[in-house]
Amino acid sequence: MDRSVSPPLMFSDKPEFKALSEHYDHIESKRMDECFDEEPNRFEHFSLSAAGLNLDYSKNRISDETIKLLVDLAESCGLPSAIEAMFMGQKINLSENRPALHTALRNFSGEPVMVGGIDVMPEVKSTLNRMEAFCWSIRTQQWRGFSNKPFTDVVSIGIGGSFLGPKLASEALKPYWSRKINCHYLSNIDGSDLTETLQGLSPETTLFIVQSKSFGTQETLKNATACRDWFLDNGGCEAELARHFAAVTANVEKAQSFGIDAKNIFPMWDWVGGRYSLWSAIGLPLMLTIGFENFRQLLQGAHAMDEHFRNAPLDQNMPVLLGLLGVWYNNFFDAQSHAILPYDHYLRGLPSHIQQLDMESNGKSVDIHGRPLPFHSGPIIWGGVGSNGQHAYHQLLHQGTQFAPCDFIIPLMSHNAVGDFHALLVSNCLSQSQALMKGKSLEQAKTELLAQGKTEEEISVLAPQRAIAGNRPSNTIYFDKSTPHVIGALIAMYEHKVFVQGQIWGVNSFDQWGVELGKQLGNKVHSALLACHDEASEFDSSTQGLINAFRSMKNKL
Ligand code: F6P
Repeated sequence: MDRSVSPPLMFSDKPEFKALSEHYDHIESKRMDECFDEEPNRFEHFSLSAAGLNLDYSKNRISDETIKLLVDLAESCGLPSAIEAMFMGQKINLSENRPALHTALRNFSGEPVMVGGIDVMPEVKSTLNRMEAFCWSIRTQQWRGFSNKPFTDVVSIGIGGSFLGPKLASEALKPYWSRKINCHYLSNIDGSDLTETLQGLSPETTLFIVQSKSFGTQETLKNATACRDWFLDNGGCEAELARHFAAVTANVEKAQSFGIDAKNIFPMWDWVGGRYSLWSAIGLPLMLTIGFENFRQLLQGAHAMDEHFRNAPLDQNMPVLLGLLGVWYNNFFDAQSHAILPYDHYLRGLPSHIQQLDMESNGKSVDIHGRPLPFHSGPIIWGGVGSNGQHAYHQLLHQGTQFAPCDFIIPLMSHNAVGDFHALLVSNCLSQSQALMKGKSLEQAKTELLAQGKTEEEISVLAPQRAIAGNRPSNTIYFDKSTPHVIGALIAMYEHKVFVQGQIWGVNSFDQWGVELGKQLGNKVHSALLACHDEASEFDSSTQGLINAFRSMKNKL
């Protein structure tokens, strides 16, 4: 970065931001239900399809003018050239001096992708071929355990992006599992996670995959060591480790010194961030369960979304519109959270994956030039599966003092056509976004209570409790069925939405320095927990008091 040139204006100092602020003042009080009354074709007008996904963004606090002004803002922030820079492999991850090329992992264009003057596509393809051969030998039972039995279980040991993405995709594509191999995900530094994962497994039929880009993450190494010990203590032997342990890492040396055979180590590259690595060999557990062809379809779906994102005009671009709508609520309506509400049992893990994808990417407070941000950047991402959420947190969505824009996600067809279940699930999804938009006026509440025979006095108290403000925005993302292609496109769509927002806020969406402090402090606290006493406490009284509590419990055992 040329530091002799003064950094660009922050988005909040741009004339396009000012124009949006003035527009906000004008549109803020406009009700969406009035818009629907005035615009019979509002649904068709604010709908978009791409890569097998359909987006209904008509239940938003927008007009054509809003979209125009948001697109002007995106252009003033250099979004089109930033998109191209990412795909072309420029070092956009400035603090780590790296490209962000998760798109290369699903690049079916036939075009080269250059990193440091070298086309990385041959190595990407050869790794995918190695993955296919590895999975084929296991799924055809040619590669067997030390007692010559076929593998029945694979344990993926990893955390963060080495866990959430593969786990989400595995759950999402459960209907495509071959059912001969069960997939387990071990992530937490919690003996209960380890115990529950190994419960009922047999060393002779279990394959372990150690998933760690750094091969230095405490939780993953601890779990991998415990699994290796479990294997050796229950019938396995050192000579057979190579059959039962594989690794996916950028640190091949460390994986080999752990005892993993070089031929079972799959590469990760430093130009793929952990939370963007599902498409790499980190997806091995998924490929083992759904097979290579379905994994390839997942990659194809993501590639289709990449092509759309790279080529569609900004105002017809799904990730761009979702990103801009998020900025609209985050920075003009002051919504500080965003809810991901999949109405699909198989997509129940989606909110957790998007939490890391979004919050670890854009949960930043300085821009790429080191300037403190005078505005909110990444929102708090939360959510859960519908219709369960309706019986948990939707009350706040409807009547809370804070509002959270929602993404409703629903397949129009179920993999399990049980009676009229799916029609009921879809009706719940659609009626929730309708209720958020329409609400129930005070007059409607009064009329209902009057019809129930309530007195005027009762009505004056009860009606305000029953009224629902409405005018709360949501997107509905829908598709025919949860297929590998659709899931690939859906996850890629959110990856690009996050990129759009990071570009507008001017933050680096591809580093995560904020997680380092906890790791450093954790090492000192761990040593103190194991010690019997402290010479002179280096800790604040809270941390010291908690350490003492743990010690006294430990001493009772
Ligand atoms: O949370 C920090 C982080 O580095 C994530 O970005 C990453 O996905 C996770 O830890 C695991 O890292 P590794 O794959 O290196 O074990």
